[in-house]
Amino acid sequence: MLDVGLLPLRSDHAVLRTMRSVDASAYASGASDPAVRQHAHLPEPEYTEASVVALIEGAIREGLERGDLAVLTIADPATDAFTGSLVLFGASEGSVEAGFWMHPNHRGKGLAAGALALAVELARRSGFTRLVARTVPENKASQRVLERAGFIQGEATRDVAPSGQEVVLMHYLLDLKPITPVPVQTERLRLRLHQHADAPALQRIYCRADVARYLLDEPWSETDASRHVSERMTKTGLNGASTALALVIEHEGAVIGDVQLWLTDIKRRVAEIGWVLDPAHSGRGLATEAVRTVLTLGFEQYSLHRVAAQMDARNEASARLAQRAGMQHEAHLRQDWWNKGEWTDTLIYGVLATEVSPGSPR
Ligand SMILES: CC(C)(COP(=O)(O)OP(=O)(O)OC[C@H]1O[C@@H](n2cnc3c(N)ncnc32)[C@H](O)[C@@H]1OP(=O)(O)O)[C@@H](O)C(=O)NCCC(=O)NCCS
Repeated sequence: MLDVGLLPLRSDHAVLRTMRSVDASAYASGASDPAVRQHAHLPEPEYTEASVVALIEGAIREGLERGDLAVLTIADPATDAFTGSLVLFGASEGSVEAGFWMHPNHRGKGLAAGALALAVELARRSGFTRLVARTVPENKASQRVLERAGFIQGEATRDVAPSGQEVVLMHYLLDLKPITPVPVQTERLRLRLHQHADAPALQRIYCRADVARYLLDEPWSETDASRHVSERMTKTGLNGASTALALVIEHEGAVIGDVQLWLTDIKRRVAEIGWVLDPAHSGRGLATEAVRTVLTLGFEQYSLHRVAAQMDARNEASARLAQRAGMQHEAHLRQDWWNKGEWTDTLIYGVLATEVSPGSPR
């Protein structure tokens, strides 16, 4: 079953979301493009704005409710406007198929590749173990999009197209590596992947002046919170397309902060870590417990060589936390960052794999 409750998903490159009636006119015009007609195998011979609205309210909504068919919008991350369509269908035995097309006005901007990476996370977080796709030898753009998302070319078969013509079909597949073994339960905390329902709790933390002061972000509005959570939901592990892991910190059932780990050098396994904890819960070692756990995960699960943390030099609480978590003070950069109207100093902390003994509580 496709867990469409995970939508919308967002990255810097694309947004993947359910269709809305405002998308209907752009969908209908994109669907009339000859390349879409030739390659996307849309079920209807033609589409109008009214027929697409009817589909959104009918078959498309029913497919989402059943969880076996997701006809989704690929939206522009800056405007949220429709740019193309991505369909997940044919779910069976852990496998689901993806199809996609872009409106001709929006091709060549990386939106299709970005949306496919988000579809990979949707399928993975829905519990599927394999994503498949089919294309034809002459469709080089779609092959490139599939290869960029990590799909491997499988066998080629012969089939009969809707036109009656015999075609060669190239089968592509992507084995969905399991997500990081989360949630992680520590003595007092539960560290788990983000979900949309976390947005209000995180907004209450990130909108505080004392939290935002030393972060690069301005205090979060509700819209900021939804946007950030939609992005973080795709950060399911360092080996995924996002090369990042974003976890919320839960204490006694409440969200009290978050920890993120992301690769800064994919090949050499170098990462950076960042954290935010609700000041209402500070002073009890909860952040240290969360950061130690994620560092251990980074070294043991992902074989990291080094993890760094950077912070505003005035952020003494964060510097103490880095030290308590076993990181060493490595540098003080003077006025290297322009933030919120002033030059600020940055502290760099780091920890190496060789400084961590496997299995030990850090
Ligand atoms: C296939 C399609 C979705 C790609 O959309 P897009 O917006 O160009 O996709 P992206 O910008 O994300 O990526 C396109 C990639 O293909 C490459 N590409 C585009 N045309 C190409 C061509 N003729 N030959 C080789 N590579 C090509 C681009 O350079 C880019 O690769 P890069 O990121 O390494 O530079 C779009 O062309 C389309 O809608 N075609 C009609 C429907 C269709 O074919 N759907 C797929 C059915 S399987």
